[in-house]
Amino acid sequence: MKKKTLLFCLAILINGLVLNAQLFNILPYPNKLEIGKGYFDLNTTIQIVNTIKDPMVMPTIGLLKEHLKSFTKLNTNKVNASFEISIDPAITNNEGYTLQVAPNKIVLKGNSPIGIFYGVQTFLQLTEQFKKSKNIPAVYIQDAPALSYRGLMLDVSRHFFPIDFVKKLVDIMAMQKMNNLHMHLTDDQGWRIEIKKYPKLTEVGGYRNGTIIGKFPGEGNTNQRYGGFYTQAELKDLVSYAATKFINIVPEIEMPGHASAAIAAYPALSTFESEKKVQETWGVFEDVFSPTEYTFNFLQDVLDEVMAIFPSPVIHIGGDECPKEAWKRSAFCQQLMKEKGIKDEHALQSYFIQRIEKYINSKGRQIIGWDEILEGGLAPNAKVMSWRGEAGGIEAAKQHHDVIMTPIDYCYFNFYQSTNPKDSIAWGGFLPLSKVYNYNPMPKALNELDATYIKGIQANLWTEYVTNVKLAEYMLFPRSIAFAEVAWTKQKPGFDHFVKRLVPYLSQLKANDIHYSTQLFDIKIKSKLNAQKTGFTLQATGVASPAELIYEMSGKPLTIKSPKLIAPLTVSTSATISIGALFENTVVNEVYAEFTINKATTATILNTSTPDPAYNQSGAQGWSNGIIGSSNRFNDGEWLGFNGKPFETVMQFNKTEALQNVQLHFFQSKGSWVYLPKSVEILSSMDGVNFSLVVKQDNFEKAKDGKFTLNIATPVAQAKYLKIIALPLDKIPAGNAGAGSPAWLFIDEMMVN
Ligand code: ACM
Repeated sequence: MKKKTLLFCLAILINGLVLNAQLFNILPYPNKLEIGKGYFDLNTTIQIVNTIKDPMVMPTIGLLKEHLKSFTKLNTNKVNASFEISIDPAITNNEGYTLQVAPNKIVLKGNSPIGIFYGVQTFLQLTEQFKKSKNIPAVYIQDAPALSYRGLMLDVSRHFFPIDFVKKLVDIMAMQKMNNLHMHLTDDQGWRIEIKKYPKLTEVGGYRNGTIIGKFPGEGNTNQRYGGFYTQAELKDLVSYAATKFINIVPEIEMPGHASAAIAAYPALSTFESEKKVQETWGVFEDVFSPTEYTFNFLQDVLDEVMAIFPSPVIHIGGDECPKEAWKRSAFCQQLMKEKGIKDEHALQSYFIQRIEKYINSKGRQIIGWDEILEGGLAPNAKVMSWRGEAGGIEAAKQHHDVIMTPIDYCYFNFYQSTNPKDSIAWGGFLPLSKVYNYNPMPKALNELDATYIKGIQANLWTEYVTNVKLAEYMLFPRSIAFAEVAWTKQKPGFDHFVKRLVPYLSQLKANDIHYSTQLFDIKIKSKLNAQKTGFTLQATGVASPAELIYEMSGKPLTIKSPKLIAPLTVSTSATISIGALFENTVVNEVYAEFTINKATTATILNTSTPDPAYNQSGAQGWSNGIIGSSNRFNDGEWLGFNGKPFETVMQFNKTEALQNVQLHFFQSKGSWVYLPKSVEILSSMDGVNFSLVVKQDNFEKAKDGKFTLNIATPVAQAKYLKIIALPLDKIPAGNAGAGSPAWLFIDEMMVN
């Protein structure tokens, strides 16, 4: 190698080291970031030079001045440094900006005041990171969002959140460069927006007489009046406040389903015969709006007031989960369908939505709805929020309708997020931070043109179990920060990189009085049976530095003084162990493990059904790994889930065995579509080819929700092989959440003795 080349390589290496050493904790990460030379000294006097006349930039300048005051002197006679702000038409994205931090000079350019706002947000994060040294390393940032709609939805119907909390959410969203807050203002359990022409909507529809206790179907009712609503003045104030942070508020008025609260206030809106009330439990209700002229006039009046409050270019009209039974029974609906040549009730829903769309279009706005609005034909200009997976969004994009992707598996922040057994009560799904971060909103099924119709993404917080603001924060943070990066950063730098930036950001969340989840410090346990088959070697991983792992055996509680878990542990078969994560002198997360060794643990598993990728964290053989799954959570990382598919396994024992008993573990959580099996069969064999039935059991319908242990006597004198088959329920029974859909089957440790 020539000397010159060698020097060149050395320079790259040194530069590389510098790059590695200096991580900019910017969230969401900018699209281009180049490190410069030297530092900008914050401990100086700075003059802000703004050449933008647009008044929309003024709140941003105010924010910047306010922030800089805490570091530096502004505009004194002896100016050492400048902060120049200007419009640069060369920046093509209207939300884009460039930010140059150089010694004694900061230059921020945007295509519009929005870009300037985002550039300031980035700058504020830099000052936060370097506030101790008061020296910001020189850097050049060129940035613009990947997606134009970056949304968060808050369901304020199931539980009501004070307007100040909504404003706080707006503040944090703006810090994360999110730009749409969707408010789910009406549903079966409460109408939350004052409508002056129809005061009973909030007087009656704004309150329910109780709420179920615990997880659906619940254990009793609080029998306590619950409710609240926003006045129009409050909402107008919120809209103006959010506008200063370039956040649009998308109002949702649900129709034609999820309408019980409105119907309780004005019963003439429905054709349904039975009792009207603001609902006290969760799910889907048959009583829906009737497509009468009275209903359309009512909804148009409501929408007039809604559009007067919210300047949003899109108005959300719901459209999801509208049962058609009431329409099928209604002589009026059947007559209407005949008159208008409407072929079925799905087409009747389409007729409903199209009429509303025409009205909203006539006021210069567009409608957006959940993906059910595709059924029976999409209204001509409708935008679609794809929630039941990506299929609806793909279909709508192919029809060249704008799409916001919000698929349930990646975007529902009402799902569990942590394997910590103390994670709060939530809907059944499991959506950890890493899964949110790794979401890719661009479906491969779309060609380049169709993909341009995917305008953005949205995370949703449904609040059936989110009873207060602290819980709402817990569910939203830090997942919404990962989500913001999915929406903003074209080439995400990866989850590990994200975590490195997020850990220091946690103190900023704390400073903003945000009660965040510590699932970032979730612990993963891996265990391996030792060669003598007397115990396990256990390894725990997954905790982001600088958190540390600690542990205790035999039920002793974890404290900050618990021993550090550094090397793999050896544990015996009867052990229970607690492992914790210690961060800033607090035990921020913990897991428990209970072990078993039995003939299934030591057998060779020849064949076993592949679990659904959403519930396979313990591996396909997780049911024989010796760790017993949680008794109150099927999504603890240990349980295996099968969606509508049977479970079948064949194990081969090391020698001919006499069997006495098999203990199987299943889980049931009906509200989460998780059911016990339809039947279980156990078969034995001596040659692995010819199996004979030992026992078959079924009829578990009466079992309660929770972990279900099935202890089966298996008197077999000689067996070399054992087969276990568990068939799922074909269809979720009527009257339950997810009725008609395939049931999930959840399995953990299968113990053979
Ligand atoms: C929805 O989750 N029903 C949109």
